Amino acid sequence: MSEKPVIEVVGLTKRFKGLTAVNDVSFSVRKGGITGMIGPNGAGKSTTFNMICGYYPPTEKRAYEYTNMKIARTFQIMKPLKNLTVMDNVIASCYFGHAAAKTREEAVERATEVLKFTGLYEKRHVLSKEMGTPDQKRLEMARALATKPEVLFLDENMAGLNPTETAEAIELIRRINQSGVTILLIEHIMQAVVSLCEKVIVLHHGEKIAEGTPEEVMNDPYVMEVYLGTKAEDKEEKEEA
Ligand SMILES: Nc1ncnc2c1ncn2[C@@H]1O[C@H](COP(=O)(O)OP(=O)(O)O)[C@@H](O)[C@H]1O
Ligand SMILES: [Mg+2]
Repeated sequence: MSEKPVIEVVGLTKRFKGLTAVNDVSFSVRKGGITGMIGPNGAGKSTTFNMICGYYPPTEKRAYEYTNMKIARTFQIMKPLKNLTVMDNVIASCYFGHAAAKTREEAVERATEVLKFTGLYEKRHVLSKEMGTPDQKRLEMARALATKPEVLFLDENMAGLNPTETAEAIELIRRINQSGVTILLIEHIMQAVVSLCEKVIVLHHGEKIAEGTPEEVMNDPYVMEVYLGTKAEDKEEKEEA
């Protein structure tokens, strides 16, 4: 019944000098699903992504399995090619990865398709640096999709969006998933996590403290305590500032 997970990590650990950013974390990602990762700032979410993507080597791991995974990711800090148009940004991405375009024609055709899918086609001639945050985030997703990923990692892709823009981003992520792409997303916006994710992993101080459906983790007393505690700390910091 259950297909082999597309990603399975066991005992993943990352230490930066004295700091243990990720401590003995294990989880799996179901093929075809949307898995979420939440946790307060500094919990180790981006570091976990970075290790799975191969961006950082893990300090330790017990097992690490992929099923022929073709991963694409967006970065928490957006990295568009600022002086290129939206179209050229996406064309450039078409030349990367397992399905790298072999001809300019192929790249243009794929870029056009991706821009239409992500709703950026009308803005294809705009320089990426001249776009606002919501379109920049859309472009990040378009660039990732241009590499034809089987798995897409999204790192806080909705930060800074208003409610309407958030709803649009949720809709786009759902369409990407329905097109057959497995998704692993880090997100602070709970509305997005609840409406998209079948499973949520909660990290805190580098450790996995809960895993389950959005409803299960949000009703977990320890998760509630961590979130309320963090909010109280944020508030104190703001008041001090
Ligand atoms: N390249 C790095 N060098 C040193 N410390 C890092 C590095 N990347 C992240 N960290 C630290 O690791 C911890 C986890 O960071 P991160 O994974 O970015 O958390 P999150 O994405 O959950 O907010 C933080 O304390 C952060 O300062
Ligand atoms: Mg992060």
